[in-house]
Amino acid sequence: MYIATQPLYPELLDRAKNNNAVILDCACCLGQALRQLAFDGAPASNLIGLDLRPEFIDLGYEFFKDRDGFAAKFVTGDMLTPDDDSLRVLDGKVEIIHAASFFHLFGWDDQVTVGARMVRFFKEGIEDATVLGRQVGHPGEPLSPEEHGEGRYHHNERSMQNLWDVIGGKRGQSGRLVPRLRAMWRRWRGVRRRSGP
Ligand SMILES: C[S@@+](CC[C@H](N)C(=O)[O-])C[C@H]1O[C@@H](n2cnc3c(N)ncnc32)[C@H](O)[C@@H]1O
Repeated sequence: MYIATQPLYPELLDRAKNNNAVILDCACCLGQALRQLAFDGAPASNLIGLDLRPEFIDLGYEFFKDRDGFAAKFVTGDMLTPDDDSLRVLDGKVEIIHAASFFHLFGWDDQVTVGARMVRFFKEGIEDATVLGRQVGHPGEPLSPEEHGEGRYHHNERSMQNLWDVIGGKRGQSGRLVPRLRAMWRRWRGVRRRSGP
């Protein structure tokens, strides 16, 4: 599964297995990434999935046939609504956040909103808070919501770092982004070339 191909995956597993790190999959959909982590030995009781749509979480149980056996916790709520009460249960609880195919759904302001909401999930004072994931990017200059046509902002490395600087600045924090976008662009272009008209 894709998450297991992430360069940070071994570190994630190590922190989950040996340091009891709590991992949140933000916009988890069916929860497939959490199941991969559990399959690879992460304690399921330290895994949390969050999604807007409860039906996706239900479908995950149906698909994986593990409603009675998968100990991960699931929470439903809206990351675009900072005061959504149902998400407060996660505040200050998490060390690692995985968010894949999520930021690219939104324009710049909403990306700042969901990023700032994510930061509230981190345990107070931890030094190795980690956000990882993959998003659709754009080679060269970022793609603005107007150019995109569906109101989405697609990043290059610089604009993604800038986004996290803005998010971190809201709390007086900073972070280092390790972008690995180019390889994905090449892969994406390759797929387009093969399947295009
Ligand atoms: C494209 S899917 C990505 C799912 C999964 N992360 C993956 O990589 O396969 C986007 C997910 O974001 C969730 N989502 C969209 N808007 C959201 C919001 N405002 N708050 C929480 N989840 C949201 C959707 O329900 C959906 O499951």
